[in-house]
Amino acid sequence: MAKIVGGVATSHIPSIGKAIARGLYDDPYWKEFFDGFKPIHRWLENVQPDAVVVVYNDHGLNFFLDKMPTFAVGAAPEYRHADEGWGLPVAAPFPGYPEMSWHLIESLVAGEFDITTCQEMLVDHAFTVPMALLWPGDRRPVRIVPVSVNTVQVPLPTPARCYKFGQAIGRAIASFGEADRVVVVGTGGLSHQLDGKRAGFINKKFDQMFLERIVKDPEYITRYSIADLIRETGAQGVELIMWLVMRGALTGDVSVIHSSYHVPISNTASAVMLLENQTRELVETI
Ligand SMILES: [Fe+2]
Repeated sequence: MAKIVGGVATSHIPSIGKAIARGLYDDPYWKEFFDGFKPIHRWLENVQPDAVVVVYNDHGLNFFLDKMPTFAVGAAPEYRHADEGWGLPVAAPFPGYPEMSWHLIESLVAGEFDITTCQEMLVDHAFTVPMALLWPGDRRPVRIVPVSVNTVQVPLPTPARCYKFGQAIGRAIASFGEADRVVVVGTGGLSHQLDGKRAGFINKKFDQMFLERIVKDPEYITRYSIADLIRETGAQGVELIMWLVMRGALTGDVSVIHSSYHVPISNTASAVMLLENQTRELVETI
């Protein structure tokens, strides 16, 4: 059976992709941010995961406002990036994992999550930037199942629903019949607002509370409504719901391997967190 070995959550700001393209890893503005990924690179090198489930939100590349699924799961053999208009270079294609995708889809629908199934799916910067941060360059050492969550067109799924969706993803992965080591990635946030009267809004106090609670007490965050989250984190800070999906999938003993918070990148509070997940079966055999 597959095992979830850990969860990673990271911001997915487009300017990170531009900085990667320009090789600005040691630039004074970027160094602290990029250095936050070094412990994660070491962990990934050690753990050698086989597959990754990436939970992100599409910003208009694959889904537009006329057709916006609340939750969508990719089931393609390959996922392509495309020009989004941000000036980002187009990433090389990413390998899919259709067998795992279809298992997740069947398990989620059986569990009453009526997701949209995508046998073709473009992936945008919310997917490609985190993948470039975790596996720099054009290396593609893991097979991928992308999961898209609507954060751009109301109504959005509640934090409580996203957490339950993550738990359902966790159960689905745990019942997959291959002996894969799986990492669940959630992307987006932290607090930021790109437009309107509160453009540039960052809420460091809330972000720090969130980073603490997401580890020790994720249910606490599920009591927030979407309106609460937008008020506290900004219109785009609501992307934090993808962190809740990731956290919901980690059902074992969870420990923090690395966590860093950096303000600002562009006009966004950024963070990265790595949580190791020790499944109950493993705990019992040690
Ligand atoms: Fe975003």
